[in-house]
Amino acid sequence: MVFSFREAVSSDVADLAQLIERSVRELQVGDYSTAEREGALARVYGVDSRLIEDGTYFVVEVEGGTMVACGGWSKRRTLFGGDEAAGREDTWLDPETDAAKIRAFFVHPDWARRGLGSSLLALCEERARAAGFHRFEMGATVTGEKLYAQRGYVAVERLAVPLGDQETLTVIRMVKEV
Ligand SMILES: CC(C)(COP(=O)(O)OP(=O)(O)OC[C@H]1O[C@@H](n2cnc3c(N)ncnc32)[C@H](O)[C@@H]1OP(=O)(O)O)[C@@H](O)C(=O)NCCC(=O)NCCS
Repeated sequence: MVFSFREAVSSDVADLAQLIERSVRELQVGDYSTAEREGALARVYGVDSRLIEDGTYFVVEVEGGTMVACGGWSKRRTLFGGDEAAGREDTWLDPETDAAKIRAFFVHPDWARRGLGSSLLALCEERARAAGFHRFEMGATVTGEKLYAQRGYVAVERLAVPLGDQETLTVIRMVKEV
């Protein structure tokens, strides 16, 4: 199977939203309750159009143009979350002193465990390094922690992100130095 990687564009938003929902609803089943998954889809996860504008969000497609994975990185402060999420901070990071953010990885369940998350991560790290960053940071899901720990990221903080209705979403801040 041939996978192609390209920068996301604004006309991808509807397909990205579908991919994100499917990925969360199926691949996070062992790690988050239904209420947590649905609450997070409503309030936290989603497309961050800033990354698309910045040219730092990528999609992976199979032959025929079907989108099977997405993920990106950012030179802005927001740690995680789509356009509707709380606590966004769009100011620029300083590559000398700040960690580039690794952002919003979602793989289609039919294409999980085939190395797409790892390949996207390598691409993001390479691009961030080319932009002068020496450290990377992310707000990882419990599902994502397994992949990132494999790739040298260390968990430094566990966050309980409010989802309303007394639910919270566990997000793990992970860092890597290069
Ligand atoms: C997290 C996610 C992006 C991983 O994508 P992926 O393409 O399946 O990851 P890879 O195939 O590159 O996995 C590489 C390695 O990470 C580890 N890993 C990844 N997913 C794992 C899982 N569910 N359980 C245990 N280890 C896992 C394994 O060591 C794996 O290597 P292996 O398959 O040879 O054992 C995907 O599960 C996903 O989209 N999850 C739902 C959305 C989400 O939570 N995204 C993370 C946001 S921070």
